[in-house]
Amino acid sequence: MWWRDAVIYQIYPRSFQDSNGDGIGDLPGILSRLDHIERLGASAIWLSPFYPSPNADFGYDVAGYTAVDPDYGTLEDFDRLVAAAHERGLHVIVDFVPCHTSIEHPWFRERPDFYVWRDAPANNWVARFGGPAWARDPVTERYYLHSFFPEQPDLNWRNPDVRAEMQSALRFWLERGVDGFRLDAITRLFKDPELRDDPAASEPFALPLPEEYGRLSHVNSANAPDIGVALRAIREAVGDALLIGEAYLPTVQLRPYTEILDVVFAFEAMNAGPDADRLKTTVAAAIEAGKLGWVLSNHDFARFATRFGENFRAACVLFLSLPGPVFVYQGDELGTPDGPGVDPPLDRHQRDRFRHPMQWNGSSTGGFTTGTPWLPPNEPQQCNVADQEKDEDSVLGLFRRLIRLRRDIGSETRLLDSPPGTVVLERGGQLVAVNFGNASAPFARRGELALETRRGDGADPETIPAHAAWIARADHARG
Ligand code: GLC
Ligand code: CA
Repeated sequence: MWWRDAVIYQIYPRSFQDSNGDGIGDLPGILSRLDHIERLGASAIWLSPFYPSPNADFGYDVAGYTAVDPDYGTLEDFDRLVAAAHERGLHVIVDFVPCHTSIEHPWFRERPDFYVWRDAPANNWVARFGGPAWARDPVTERYYLHSFFPEQPDLNWRNPDVRAEMQSALRFWLERGVDGFRLDAITRLFKDPELRDDPAASEPFALPLPEEYGRLSHVNSANAPDIGVALRAIREAVGDALLIGEAYLPTVQLRPYTEILDVVFAFEAMNAGPDADRLKTTVAAAIEAGKLGWVLSNHDFARFATRFGENFRAACVLFLSLPGPVFVYQGDELGTPDGPGVDPPLDRHQRDRFRHPMQWNGSSTGGFTTGTPWLPPNEPQQCNVADQEKDEDSVLGLFRRLIRLRRDIGSETRLLDSPPGTVVLERGGQLVAVNFGNASAPFARRGELALETRRGDGADPETIPAHAAWIARADHARG
């Protein structure tokens, strides 16, 4: 299993590298930057959607499952990218969006039976991005179901023809050489067959939700008990290719997903923030559940550096030392913070500030484009690859060292007792000690210092300094 402790690098194609000056990142641009990903030490790239899309949700509204949007290039560009990645030993994972299509997908008119239609809104379900989950179609004057934007009508996975179409799309990409899929919004594939109302939420959900959406408990609008039927159809199509599920659920509810998929994102740990107790609990629960993968951040959520602030470097050490795959979102390896976004916003769900173009150098467009970037870069003079390349103590330097160490970290992980504000774990021969607190914490190091967040942080073998971390090789300990 190549992905067991893999670092999987998430590319948001629109914002990674433009190759033709139109201000939009593209597949040839990605190919030209594979060096960076290889030097980082990642084992795979995950490409966010590059399929034809009217961009109501920037690619997550797919208008054709087996093509490349001309903004991003051609199928030949895709083949070249896969070949170049494989030549470097990088696996390729593509995003697959099975829950809904774009409203501009031809199926929406040609195959109404592929969607969920009613003469009037059938229940009280609410869309994740706000408002009712039923939208009126002016052409038919009927209502269709959408879990996200109204431009994203939900597919009816209970229809076997839908499952068959999705299976053939998956096979199309497998035949082009991809090594796996990241499955978008996978809890939505099966809903309550009777479309019963969602009850009011009686307690807060374990993960952050938009206010309106959080008022209901989504027991009927998602995550139906027979979700396994949909997941098994996907598994059947892809054989043993890697399947990563985006299931925005508390860890205790992930069982039906981990039974069939290989990796499921650990969103509870992602959301714990620099709270050592919450981190210990959520990390322990995720390790116990098995098959979970760690998310630093992604195109939907605040960036890793912003969420951890002064504890950012310590958090890098912790997350990159955990057992299981780690997902690094482009730019997080530089410590890129959330940007200002744009006014008026491009994303109606307010996620522009997590999607600024990658900053390759300190020039005004950050080396992202020779034209006008679709979204302005986020202060490239402050934070860019070229500067950090020259500085061993940069965040990029820290990521590279951590990923190198991760290669020979042991498999058995134990969380140890440690002072408040700290997390200490032992993995094989390594001792990983992290302090999110404002004061240095007593903890005796065993073994030889292998890494420190900043030069000098690990000088005192009896403590973990404030907002810092170190890794020691316990197997070199004497006595
Ligand atoms: C997932 C994607 C997000 C998208 C949504 C609907 O959560 O990560 O970007 O908006 O699904 O497809
Ligand atoms: Ca371009």
